[in-house]
Amino acid sequence: MDLFPVYPLFDIEISHAKGCHLWDDQGQRYLDLYGGHAVISIGHSHPHYQKRLQDQLQKISFYSNSVQIPLQKELASKLGQLCSYPEYHLFLCNSGAEANENAFKVASFHTNKSKIIVFEKAFHGRTSLAVAATDSPQILAPINRSDNIVRLPWNDIDALEKNFTDEIAAVVLEGIQGIGGIHLPEASFLAKIKELAPKNKALVILDEIQSGYGRSGKFFAHQYFDIQPDLITVAKGMGNGFPIGGVLLHPKIKAKYGMLGTTFGGNHLACAAGLAVLEVIEQENLMEQATEKGAYLKEKLKSFPFVKEVRGKGLMLGVDLNVPAASIRKKLLTEKHIFTGSSSQAQTLRLLPPLNISKENLDEFLGALEEVCR
Ligand SMILES: Cc1ncc(COP(=O)(O)O)c(C=O)c1O
Repeated sequence: MDLFPVYPLFDIEISHAKGCHLWDDQGQRYLDLYGGHAVISIGHSHPHYQKRLQDQLQKISFYSNSVQIPLQKELASKLGQLCSYPEYHLFLCNSGAEANENAFKVASFHTNKSKIIVFEKAFHGRTSLAVAATDSPQILAPINRSDNIVRLPWNDIDALEKNFTDEIAAVVLEGIQGIGGIHLPEASFLAKIKELAPKNKALVILDEIQSGYGRSGKFFAHQYFDIQPDLITVAKGMGNGFPIGGVLLHPKIKAKYGMLGTTFGGNHLACAAGLAVLEVIEQENLMEQATEKGAYLKEKLKSFPFVKEVRGKGLMLGVDLNVPAASIRKKLLTEKHIFTGSSSQAQTLRLLPPLNISKENLDEFLGALEEVCR
């Protein structure tokens, strides 16, 4: 059997990885400024992560959600403490799209309404309503088209005021738009959402799948602003590569048996991975590191004549170049052996390195970027 070829692939076979580096089967070393789509939060093959998973594997890796799994409670408690929402509840699942599907469903159950406001350039996943909420017609199959989606321009207060009716169940936004090119919400825009959502008996859903888990320098990117979401979705950096996702739910949202469910979500191994990540974020002060390293990187990038703009927070940065980013990414990879990310904006290079990347590695990247852009 052959694979279903849905991805254009680089001709690189990665054999192992450590910290911010990857090695291919020829022994070539690569610097990782992309974290495999913002997934690698604590660095590749972190010893604490490896030990936690190895120890768990010796005990039990999976049993169904019909029994007590204390690791789930431990994970929820640690997450609540680190993200400063200790009173919220946690529903565990396996991916970002699944987290969003469940959040949309909860909002609909809670409000007994079916329409959601989403934004231009947003990405929320590839499953049924998540892909309908995503602003990418080429990945939307006819079966996923939905009349329940109200798509508005980002940061447009007038559009929000006009379209936020009492038919709306929820407004859904990324903490920082990622794939769309690294765009922050404006404080006044969030203030309007904060005002209109309760007025219309709608919930606020913050998709922190890419921008969460310390990447922005705060646990969640929305914590730079004065807004408290009703539902927060997480995945990517949560497992540092182990498939795990989650929905954080405000305590006013009441659970009913059967309302949500999953076979694999919250399994023993996934919880061990999730706990290891949180422990490293805490022990290594990764939020502070993301803030510091991000500020350093931003400052240096801004001084380059070929850089038009740098957006983002912490180690979630979008760099607008004065040439198409695709050619620069290719040169960085083939000539300098550095992985970087793209976005839906042709000029934008997306940077999402592991949160404990060293200053030396950032300097190596900056020197390489200067050479390929010259
Ligand atoms: C903001 C955001 N939401 C949701 C998703 C979907 O996550 P997953 O690929 O784990 O389903 C992504 C993935 O890139 C994302 O960036």
